[in-house]
Amino acid sequence: MTTLIAPHGGTLKNLYLTPELAAAEKQKAKELLSWDLDHRQLCDIELLLNGAFSPLEGFLGRADYDRVVSEMRLADGTLWPMPIMLDVSEAFAAQVQVGATIALRDPEGVLIATMEIADLWTPDKALEAQNVFGTTDEKHPGVAYLMRKAGPVYIGGKLKGVEEPMHYDFRSLRNSPAEMRALFNKLGWRKIVAFQTRNPMHRAHQELTFRAAKLAQANLLIHPVVGMTKPGDIDHYSRVRCYEHLIKQYPEQSTMLSLLHLAMRMGGPREAVWHAIIRKNHGCTHFIVGRDHAGPGKNSKGKDFYGPYDAQEMVAQYAEELGIEMVPFQEMVYVEELAEYVPQDEVKPGQTVLNISGTEFRRRLMEGLEIPAWFSYPEVVAELRRTHPPKHLQGFTVFFTGLSGSGKSTIANALMVKLMELGGRRVTMLDGDLVRKNLSSELGFSKEHRNINILRIGYVASEITKNGGIAICAPIAPYTQTRKDVRDMIAPLGGFIEIHVATTVETCEQRDRKGLYAKARAGIIKEFTGISDPYEAPENPEMKIQTEECTPDEAAQRILLKLESLGYIR
Ligand code: PPS
Repeated sequence: MTTLIAPHGGTLKNLYLTPELAAAEKQKAKELLSWDLDHRQLCDIELLLNGAFSPLEGFLGRADYDRVVSEMRLADGTLWPMPIMLDVSEAFAAQVQVGATIALRDPEGVLIATMEIADLWTPDKALEAQNVFGTTDEKHPGVAYLMRKAGPVYIGGKLKGVEEPMHYDFRSLRNSPAEMRALFNKLGWRKIVAFQTRNPMHRAHQELTFRAAKLAQANLLIHPVVGMTKPGDIDHYSRVRCYEHLIKQYPEQSTMLSLLHLAMRMGGPREAVWHAIIRKNHGCTHFIVGRDHAGPGKNSKGKDFYGPYDAQEMVAQYAEELGIEMVPFQEMVYVEELAEYVPQDEVKPGQTVLNISGTEFRRRLMEGLEIPAWFSYPEVVAELRRTHPPKHLQGFTVFFTGLSGSGKSTIANALMVKLMELGGRRVTMLDGDLVRKNLSSELGFSKEHRNINILRIGYVASEITKNGGIAICAPIAPYTQTRKDVRDMIAPLGGFIEIHVATTVETCEQRDRKGLYAKARAGIIKEFTGISDPYEAPENPEMKIQTEECTPDEAAQRILLKLESLGYIR
């Protein structure tokens, strides 16, 4: 008999069919219309099927959704803060109706579950954003996802689980709520305090979790999110290797590490309530809520979306219904005189507080600067340095843009040669003509085709950048939005340096090396950039080059200096 805490709603759900029924369902599913689950939906379905989202039995239907959005409750009144629906395209929604059953598959086509559609509706996303996140500002990652990525139609219905979503990494660290509960039972753990995190853990976190466990006289579960976190966060592979180092710093048998395949929404207070429910379903009796729990950062006016302790307040407000006990914590800071971490409110006047913010920590990592031992364990820092080398060893993309004949290719080639001369780096040239021959030979010069061309270049450059190489791109790239899309794709992976080769159309036409301007004027070449097709000049490029005023060699030299000053070469 288990003496562990009861799951939310009373029963731990398990939405998987028995092996026999699953085999039969697989056969039936061959005839069904399929929806390919995206990354976030795969995270959601995994936690629906294994009961982490108990009492939910599938994606929310309309009545549940409406009440969750407006009141944080399911239609039957149970506390539930986060709307979890299957968002689909209009095209898919047009092919199905209420009562139909659909097959839900992973990107490889593996059948994860089937769902009988109970409801299908077009939501008011602005209202959802306002109620759930308290804002419609798209600087909020949850709002941005809702508005820009999530499909326009929602589908709700009960799930029949066929196969667990597959993970190839860190398998021994992944536990369903039932497995977690079985482990706690086996070990005789009765009081367990859970710690949620999406970041690498340093000494402050270790101290905080250790204190929380002592305070609650409980064992500790380090329960980091490895599904989807805030865009720009450190990848989970590096983080998990860090946690594995850190776990050795706790007293033996006191602490466990398990990974949670949750897709966070960065919803602050509502998200904290959701996190508490998920931990309760995993059998935890206590849950740590620190400063700015699941905080989404600053809004478009530079202000915090939520107050630092809003999440604690909301969890406290629902304490009775939640059942799991909150262990609230202030930010932990290092006091030099004591040579230890204490909660911020315990610092005495005159004591020296040392702190390194997340941003400062990332800067030190990027620039290969010292990270003091009071801040983090050397093994953790070494692990992060392996995957986050200093800037001069990271990949970057130099993206030239300018009219045909502006001199992009000449300067790009000069830059490539100079980078090769410096040595030690791998450089790839993605020149406009080269790409048109090898990657985009079927494309013409309509706006649509140019955009496809540029996005292809951006994709290749992003892969090169991600893997530590240097990509030099030199297409015309006449449209601001497409250039921005490429920047957004590459910037999170390394450097992105946009260079506007701002030769005027008059000069290009005078030079007319390939005779194309003459043909364009004569109407032989249609949609020619600068003549019969627009060129939207960049407003804020990292560098602007006037080729009327400098030679290609001088231009390349200037770019090298810029790269040096940005830290990408040395
Ligand atoms: S784009 O807009 O970025 O997709 O263009 P890009 O891939 O750089 O290709 C530009 C080269 O194609 C030749 N060319 C034309 N350019 C502009 N407009 C029209 N209609 C056109 N037709 C052919 C031209 O030689 C460009 O080469 P560069 O090296 O830029 O002079």
